[in-house]
Amino acid sequence: MPKARVLQHSQYSMIRILGILGSPRRGGNTDFFMEKVLSHLNKSGFNTNSLRLADLDIRPCNACNKCYKTGRCIIRDDIDKVFKEIKLSSVIIVASPVFFLGVSAQTKILIDRSQSKWVEKYILKKTQQVTKTKKGIFISVRGGKGMEVFKCIEKPVRAFFDVHNVKYVKGIFVDGIDEKGDIKKDKMAIKKASNLIEGFISFKGGSFYGTV
Ligand SMILES: Cc1cc2nc3c(=O)[nH]c(=O)nc-3n(C[C@H](O)[C@H](O)[C@H](O)COP(=O)(O)O)c2cc1C
Repeated sequence: MPKARVLQHSQYSMIRILGILGSPRRGGNTDFFMEKVLSHLNKSGFNTNSLRLADLDIRPCNACNKCYKTGRCIIRDDIDKVFKEIKLSSVIIVASPVFFLGVSAQTKILIDRSQSKWVEKYILKKTQQVTKTKKGIFISVRGGKGMEVFKCIEKPVRAFFDVHNVKYVKGIFVDGIDEKGDIKKDKMAIKKASNLIEGFISFKGGSFYGTV
């Protein structure tokens, strides 16, 4: 049985947490969940940051395969800013609503543009394996009922974390949330957000999301 370990408050500020907002709907359900988690963690002393994909200029992968030679994408846009933040952070939280049984277009573009990272890792073998120190969390909500779709959309997000050498540790999924703000009235969603916050502050064995 692993011993329970508690992160000291003085160590919180060393943990840089990046929230990647994948919904185009400002103030929508995934935003609300992420905001609740990040603002609480920030008040607790963690170093938090967020990026809203819809506000950035990130063009889709055009499959030119130029990255196969260099491990670098030839498109110069805000993707560099996102990759830099991912590199600097110890915890990366990606949040996307379910759109047509997939992630949002903004989130998918980010994932596809990570092809250069896949090349870097698996073709050019330049980067390290997934480290235990960088952790990834995926938050998703959907309007319809049922959890099976989340298993499906989790797969590209897992692959995304893998190419960035981030260990995927947790998926948090809420169904039956459709109108903007519905999530605020959903007790289960609020509980899931509180559990996630709690997970950063006290943890057992390897279950902590931000161990450095
Ligand atoms: C373009 C579009 C496609 C959607 N497709 C689905 C879907 O396939 N399954 C589902 O359960 N909900 C679907 N929804 C509903 C959203 O998942 C739901 O409204 C969610 O709460 C939006 O989250 P947000 O407020 O963070 O943007 C779709 C919504 C939009 C706008």
